[in-house]
Amino acid sequence: MLAATSIAEEILELKKDRKAILLAHHYQEREIQELADVIGDSLELARKARECSGDVIAFCGVWFMAETAKVLNPGRTVVVPDKEASCSLVESCPVEPVREYRRRHPHDVIVSYINTSVEVKAESDILCTSRNAVAVVNSIPPEKDVMFLPDSNLGAYVQQQTGRRNMKMWQGTCIVHATFPARRVSAAKLEHPGALVAAHPECPAQVLAMADFIGSTTAIIDWCVRSPAQEFIVMTESGVRYSLERLAPEKQFHFVANENCNCSECPYMKRNTLEKLRDCLADLQPRVEIPGAVMERALRPLERMLAIR
Ligand code: 13P
Ligand code: SF4
Repeated sequence: MLAATSIAEEILELKKDRKAILLAHHYQEREIQELADVIGDSLELARKARECSGDVIAFCGVWFMAETAKVLNPGRTVVVPDKEASCSLVESCPVEPVREYRRRHPHDVIVSYINTSVEVKAESDILCTSRNAVAVVNSIPPEKDVMFLPDSNLGAYVQQQTGRRNMKMWQGTCIVHATFPARRVSAAKLEHPGALVAAHPECPAQVLAMADFIGSTTAIIDWCVRSPAQEFIVMTESGVRYSLERLAPEKQFHFVANENCNCSECPYMKRNTLEKLRDCLADLQPRVEIPGAVMERALRPLERMLAIR
């Protein structure tokens, strides 16, 4: 405990020296979130990355999110505590097959989830996050064919919400959300009969069918806090518990274990630790570096997304 306190103090000191801003995703460990200037979902963090001042952005999240921050802030240093903080969706979607798809289907609109590498973003027409995916797809002329990548569960949810037929799906999934079994949600509902279910759209359709609310990480938090209900089954990464308990201490939140790790933690997000955060602020490494041409091409679909509220 003492050691953790002194590492936190070192981080705050380094943050001042480096003129750094600390952005943290809701899935980070509680002690990292406690030090953050901004806690948010991927859309909020993308917006805040652009609005904030300072020389350095210390991005406590996964690598693709830090790449997004770099594209929006090419003149600033962006560091991440652990370079291996990847994402199963990013890994499911290498850039070469996407280029091949583009060559074969030059008239299709490629909509890429923000959970993609910067190289894939550079090949895309528009990006989306779990918060704005329905609005993004609705913004595309109905006669255009759409390739939605890489999350097939989010894509199926968006297709259902938009009623769009001409939508093809990449076959990637999130190792955390896609492995929540519907039978465990049923069991949790039996155990907590008064609880409402909130789910992230990366969950399988059978889980989403049981949800009272479907939304991004921040949308889930807002909905649980505002709801008159007192008890919730929360179908997303358990890092959101920190904000939920801070904002609604009188309510109860139940998390369901998935079949991947028998927990509800993202192993990539959890690679970041206080020690690694201190070291990345001290060394300004690992640092996000992207070739200028890739950044320019990735900025266009990102700006198109940010123009859609
Ligand atoms: P959000 O857009 O809700 O932050 O989700 C990001 C993510 O990686 C979900 O697993
Ligand atoms: Fe990627 Fe899933 Fe982790 Fe989100 S929770 S960063 S989608 S692996």
